[in-house]
Amino acid sequence: MNKQFCVFGNPIAHSLSPQMHNFAFEFLQNDIGFRGSYGRYLLKDADNLAKSFYDLRLDGANITLPFKENAFEQSDRVEGIAQKIQAVNTWVLRDKKIYGYNTDAEGFYQTIKDFNFKNALILGAGGSAKAIAFILQEKKITPTILNRSLERIRLLQKDFDCFTPHNFKAQRFDLIINTTSASLKNTLPFEKEFLQDLLCNAKYAYDLMYAKQTPFLQLAKSFVPIKDGRDMLIAQGALAFELFCAKKIPQAFSLMQKALQ
Ligand SMILES: NC(=O)c1ccc[n+]([C@@H]2O[C@H](COP(=O)([O-])OP(=O)(O)OC[C@H]3O[C@@H](n4cnc5c(N)ncnc54)[C@H](OP(=O)(O)O)[C@@H]3O)[C@@H](O)[C@H]2O)c1
Repeated sequence: MNKQFCVFGNPIAHSLSPQMHNFAFEFLQNDIGFRGSYGRYLLKDADNLAKSFYDLRLDGANITLPFKENAFEQSDRVEGIAQKIQAVNTWVLRDKKIYGYNTDAEGFYQTIKDFNFKNALILGAGGSAKAIAFILQEKKITPTILNRSLERIRLLQKDFDCFTPHNFKAQRFDLIINTTSASLKNTLPFEKEFLQDLLCNAKYAYDLMYAKQTPFLQLAKSFVPIKDGRDMLIAQGALAFELFCAKKIPQAFSLMQKALQ
């Protein structure tokens, strides 16, 4: 039996998901009971997400920037923590219905679960900050959100402690996570001195970007151990792969890691 998958996004040419999934599908073909193939799809119109999924006769998909909220809205059913986050990055077709999941949240948690952190400061308040805040809260690691502007944190204030630099009171955080897209512009998300004060009291710094070492991690590494977003990328992919195969696949993470080497 053949099954087809893809990742939807815009832009999408840079996506590493086809490389990760095709490697795992090929290696595990006999264990999973089907031949899987995984492509990428440049989606122009968010309203056509579900229609494109059906037109392409897909069995499952990943959805990346900027369509995760559209994927949430266009799912027939939303499962697990994706209901709280209101963003979906994985679709699975079951009984002709689209089931939506969020594996970014659990994928992030898998990469920090052995560190025994009690609390975390999340820099940024966009889609990935929201996913991380909800999973940390669920796992009893107290999240605090700090964003440069007020607009986005208004929606998050009912669930989390949220601040801008203007009303933020410095305190000690075990983990500091940069989820801002400042890294894409090769800048720090906040003033250097402000970040240094936070980092010198922290245990660990994390940046969701993975292609290169960001200004935030370059600053942080003088104070604490650091981690980039590569393991999170792999972990969210491995969890999506298990959903596509409808079974636990313990070697999915290491296979996908190998695919990127
Ligand atoms: N490793 C992985 O698996 C993984 C998974 C998901 C996302 N990511 C990465 O995470 C990053 C964020 O994604 P997202 O979906 O959360 O983006 P998003 O929803 O667009 O949110 C961006 C956030 O960054 C803030 N920001 C943007 N430019 C800034 C600057 N110059 N200084 C300070 N803050 C700034 C925004 O603040 P305002 O509200 O003030 O505009 C907002 O809070 C991207 O780089 C993405 O590639 C990685």
